[in-house]
Amino acid sequence: MRRVTLTQFLIQRQQAGKINADLRLLIETVARACKAISTRVNKGALADGHGTVGTQNVQGEVVQKLDALSNEILLEANEWGGNLAALASEEMENPHPIPTRFPKGEYLLLFDPLDGSSNIDVNISVGTIFSVLRCPKAASGELCEANEAAFLQPGNKQVAAGFAVYGPTTVFALTVGDGAHGFTLDRETYTFVLTHPEIRIPADTAEFAINVSNQRRWEAPVRRYIEECLAGQDGPRGKDFNMRWVASMVADVFRVLSRGGIFMYPRDAKNTDGRLRLMYEANPMAFIVEQAGGAATDGSTRILDLEPNALHQRVAVILGSKNEVERVTAYHKKK
Ligand code: AHG
Ligand code: MN
Ligand code: MN
Repeated sequence: MRRVTLTQFLIQRQQAGKINADLRLLIETVARACKAISTRVNKGALADGHGTVGTQNVQGEVVQKLDALSNEILLEANEWGGNLAALASEEMENPHPIPTRFPKGEYLLLFDPLDGSSNIDVNISVGTIFSVLRCPKAASGELCEANEAAFLQPGNKQVAAGFAVYGPTTVFALTVGDGAHGFTLDRETYTFVLTHPEIRIPADTAEFAINVSNQRRWEAPVRRYIEECLAGQDGPRGKDFNMRWVASMVADVFRVLSRGGIFMYPRDAKNTDGRLRLMYEANPMAFIVEQAGGAATDGSTRILDLEPNALHQRVAVILGSKNEVERVTAYHKKK
């Protein structure tokens, strides 16, 4: 059987009028950067990839060497292509405008360069998450000033989003708004090959993902939902549930895309706005999960409809198999 590469897939999408040449090039470039990051992750301690840089990022989190390196790789790969107006990243306090020496384009790229940083040194899957928006046009019709305000668009305005997981295999998951698709990196040809076309998340599941160490700080609806799962066959759900928590959102979400499940990082008494970041974690994941037939809310509102007010704002995330997400959301409404 002839295998479809990411390049062919994107050209087909362009020919079908779903994306333009600039967006195709942008996605190709992000995917190429992910291959480079994958190689560095894979080298681990051999290439001085472990340990911290010794500084903190804007979120007050310790920056790992691979966080900084992945950020550099994504910046360098995307700066000069002519399809972007600006970039924004978990690891940069402010948006990064395209330097004047390069041509500017109509898109904005946001990324979490290395998701799951606490897992780097212990050899557990990590990844990269990205989101693409259009830069809003100024009244004059000129391209907008690519400042923070330009980025503050709800997730339903995303034109593409996805993530890479650097696990036993490197997988690139993508949506351009017509389904969710996964590509596996073939390390012999160094190409991404379509291995997971038209991903569908089953509406029902018996598997949940949440960091239970936060249990004492959860709000009542989440507490109730998890208690009912844990009660298993003898409880109100009448079935046993299994639990998984990788602590790399990319790996947890890829599992949900692969076999269903519900993933939650709710707000709690310590993380009163939630833990995950709306613009480059929750929005892209919500987009791809919805495109696979799943759902994503913050407990009351669809993630993709939230109006952002800051580049690095945090949000509660409940995503995955539709019927379970709807159940947790209903528990919040009853509260
Ligand atoms: P990052 O490494 O980009 O800061 O993100 C880590 C996130 C996410 O990947 C994961 O689901 C969550 O943090 C894990 O949090 P806990 O350590 O609280 O489990
Ligand atoms: Mn992250
Ligand atoms: Mn990160």
